[in-house]
Amino acid sequence: MSLTTKFLGRTYASPIMNAAGIRCTTTVELDQLRQSSAGTFVTKTATLNPRSGNAGKRLAALPNGSINSMGLPNEGIDYYLDYLTNLPDHGHDAFLSVAGFSEGDQLAVLSKIAASDFAGIVELNLSCPNIVGHPQLAYDFEATDALLAKVFAQFGQLELGVKLPPFFDPVHFDQIAAVLNKYPIKYINSINSLGNGFFINPDTDAPMIEPKSGFGGIGGGYAKPTALANVRAMRERLRDDIAIIGTGGVQNGRDAYDLILCGASMVQVATLLGEEGIAAFDHLNAQLQTVLTAKGYPNAEAAVGQLVTNVKH
Ligand code: FUM
Repeated sequence: MSLTTKFLGRTYASPIMNAAGIRCTTTVELDQLRQSSAGTFVTKTATLNPRSGNAGKRLAALPNGSINSMGLPNEGIDYYLDYLTNLPDHGHDAFLSVAGFSEGDQLAVLSKIAASDFAGIVELNLSCPNIVGHPQLAYDFEATDALLAKVFAQFGQLELGVKLPPFFDPVHFDQIAAVLNKYPIKYINSINSLGNGFFINPDTDAPMIEPKSGFGGIGGGYAKPTALANVRAMRERLRDDIAIIGTGGVQNGRDAYDLILCGASMVQVATLLGEEGIAAFDHLNAQLQTVLTAKGYPNAEAAVGQLVTNVKH
């Protein structure tokens, strides 16, 4: 049984990788990811200019997950492009996550990528919930449509996917899928954190984190059912040639397998990676291998979308 996975013409030793934001902000962290047993890696979402992010305590562990309001701290697009384009493969097997705070910003970031030697995959983050005054773009279907029209008119040569927030209503699944199906998007990544959750510290009766008065993105175990729902719902609605990366609530190999059953070709890990460090990939790979072997699959790819749809009593 092999975990070898093909994604956008690349071959990875495992379908499991980090999610943007987790242990992937500095070149030291990126080197550690490259040397780990993760199938590949994605860089922290990069903006046009470096950002220090939101002030104060901005990440906390919760009983079954995490809450964060990081505010996109990152070293800026030039830093990540410099790192990736200096790799032997010019970043061919890597993912570069990017975001902007306006259409102009987004296009400026993409134009830097297009002008560079970067040979990898671009992930447009339409779903960061932690920027004051900037709602998650993908919740505005018209604005998303308008942005993607410009992106693909100008940068059609890029291999580009989008990171989506969670959706909670079948009508909204229909609406976002209808927009995405209009464009030559290579993949979606579903889901970002459950935006603007709230958790009270029982020791202090105060919120767990400081930015945005305590509101922040919820990850970890709390996110798993919503992640599964989004991967499943989007797989039913997207064109077949749009692949899916499943993210949300992966704490063990079974969680990764469940996302794969719903249609994910790759699986990203966030909260667990933050808690355990890169050793998390060793555990997850071994556990996923055990599940796939027990279920009789020759490799991870064979399990993609193999959800059993008739409920057995
Ligand atoms: O606040 C943050 O840096 C999180 C980003 C994201 O969820 O995409």
